[in-house]
Amino acid sequence: MAAHEPAAEEQIERELERLEAIERFAPPPDFQAHALIRERSIYEQGARDPLSFWADQARRLSWSEPFEAVLDDSDPPFYRWFHDGKMNVSYNCLDRHVLAGRGDVVAYHWRGEEGQERTLTYAELLAEVKRFANALRDLGVREGDVVGIYLPMVPEVVVAMLACARIGAVHNVVFGGFAVEAVRERMAVSEAKALVTVDGSARRGAIAPVKAAVDQILPELPALEHVVVVRSKGGDCPMQAGRDHFYDELIERADAECEAVALDAEHPLFILYTSGSTAKPKGIVHSSAGYLTGVATTHRIVFDLRSAADEDDRGLPPDVYWCAADVGWVTGHSYIVYGPLANGATSVLWEGAPDYPHRGIWWELIERYRVSILYTAPTAIRACIKWGAQWPARYDLSSLRLLGSVGEPINPKAWLWYHKVIGGERCPIVDTWWQTETGAIMITPLPGITETKPGSATLPFPGISAEVVDEHEGKPLAGGQGLLVIDRPWPSMARTLYREGERFVETYFSRFGKRTYVVGDAARRDADGYFWVIGRIDDVVNVSGHRLSTAEVESAIVSHPDVAEAAVIGQHDEQTGQAIVAFVTLRADYQGADPEQEVRDLVGERIGKFARPKRVIWAEDLPKTRSGKIMRRLLRDIAEGRALGDVTTLRDPEVMQALAEHVAQARAAEAD
Ligand code: WTA
Repeated sequence: MAAHEPAAEEQIERELERLEAIERFAPPPDFQAHALIRERSIYEQGARDPLSFWADQARRLSWSEPFEAVLDDSDPPFYRWFHDGKMNVSYNCLDRHVLAGRGDVVAYHWRGEEGQERTLTYAELLAEVKRFANALRDLGVREGDVVGIYLPMVPEVVVAMLACARIGAVHNVVFGGFAVEAVRERMAVSEAKALVTVDGSARRGAIAPVKAAVDQILPELPALEHVVVVRSKGGDCPMQAGRDHFYDELIERADAECEAVALDAEHPLFILYTSGSTAKPKGIVHSSAGYLTGVATTHRIVFDLRSAADEDDRGLPPDVYWCAADVGWVTGHSYIVYGPLANGATSVLWEGAPDYPHRGIWWELIERYRVSILYTAPTAIRACIKWGAQWPARYDLSSLRLLGSVGEPINPKAWLWYHKVIGGERCPIVDTWWQTETGAIMITPLPGITETKPGSATLPFPGISAEVVDEHEGKPLAGGQGLLVIDRPWPSMARTLYREGERFVETYFSRFGKRTYVVGDAARRDADGYFWVIGRIDDVVNVSGHRLSTAEVESAIVSHPDVAEAAVIGQHDEQTGQAIVAFVTLRADYQGADPEQEVRDLVGERIGKFARPKRVIWAEDLPKTRSGKIMRRLLRDIAEGRALGDVTTLRDPEVMQALAEHVAQARAAEAD
């Protein structure tokens, strides 16, 4: 096989060149013939009467008290949707399917790093959720209390989220890749009452002792009364009687029956902290009914989902759906947990990395579970391109019928490779633009009707109204680059920032009035009205689809006693989309041996390994305005090797010369 590989790669290159000449890709006819949405009229319905469009979608859910009011917009930007209705998210995700006789349908095919497998049907998942919900209650968790969840990709993470939803507790999931310091901060500001975590977690065969690390932060969290520990990989871990409890022991003791509480439509379902322009993460708060309406509708329509719950079989077997994100980010919340479960889908839940135990593991899993829908991020696709097409070529990917992309703009080369090598030119690609704040997909093709152009997320989802506006007055632009805004409320929009209502208004709704949501991305529209999202306009960087604030990384670096000053920027990176580059000034009396390692370790400890700078550039001084503000724009120019912009406003223009030399040296060192 090895002898053929270079030739195969060359052939793919030629094929990609052929595809590159194609500007638009119509939905493949075989796909279109069975598509859920085949009429463009859905766009008209959404545009003509967005409220009734969304009300119809909301009525697909089960309500314990049906809503009459659709939207309350009397106090923008604090909108309320379906607010006089009552429902329960876990009931909608579980009971509803079991009561309809679909208890035996598989909710998740879970696969562990070492090849372990666990199949969870809807009935099994419901039974475990009920018990864990009771266990949380036994620990004193009540409606409205915050429960932290810091778990790897094990089935219990889904159970914990749904158990909270069942009793009206508000979950606050922290991505397992964050360091415990980030967990401490997020638990402290949300005053979490309990934390669900794990003894230890596996990553590429190495086991990290999670509970022991969590113990370091517990003394600083007075409001946190209980810690629940899922036994996974860690073997022995320290446990404090009265405070710490093993998950399996709680489940065993707990009552098996637990009725889902009928909650107000606007009851908060979860808080998810995300990065903004400042070092302090924002606690995005999502509602119950509006959020579930948004994720269920988009999951069904954008992914063309055919589930066991559908009456019309469209000539298709039920899909096996796989969103390869981590449950700790919003993509996992909306499209691993809530959207798929609300729709009664069968999903794959993979514990591990894309390259362990080998670089073909994803394709092996697709073959094994006959995955028909794959949703992933451009950064993962680029990694696969680097590893070579021989890996997917070893497996049967013919079960795939739809591919999705999320998290950052997808470069046309990655799009075409995904289309050709993974999708065999028969699968539409849905490039979905959305954010933690929007809750659900906002700009996306509808795979049965929308022509796609590689690199464009195409058009707003029906019922969503987006514009590209000029940055001064907020007037819609006919062409050219501007700010992306959403100018009408939508059901799954964030309701507020946890305990920071003013910051919510200030961050998103102050620039062009309280009815215009300013996204924070730059975009342009082409002659067909298609949206091309360019990237962030604030100090948020997107590394491998992980959203980080430069200020957060800076604040970690300057916590080093020998660091005088630091400025962090995002630099374009072939592999990860953006990479973090830190410009650091050390104190003159620095005595250590390896400052670069120290800086990287510190960021790893304070935020998480994924946030460590790719490059550290030493600077005697940083470019500042006369008022002392660091000019990151100039640092970006230097890092990207661009001609320098205007430096006349600098306090000391010579600083730039010295820095440019350091960057050149760093480059030369990397090339060696
Ligand atoms: C970026 C992830 C271009 C964008 C769901 C946004 C994208 C930020 C796309 C949100 C896409 C996400 N094309 N850019 N298809 N999807 N982004 O909150 O900059 O982690 O503002 O949500 O990712 O990141 P977040």
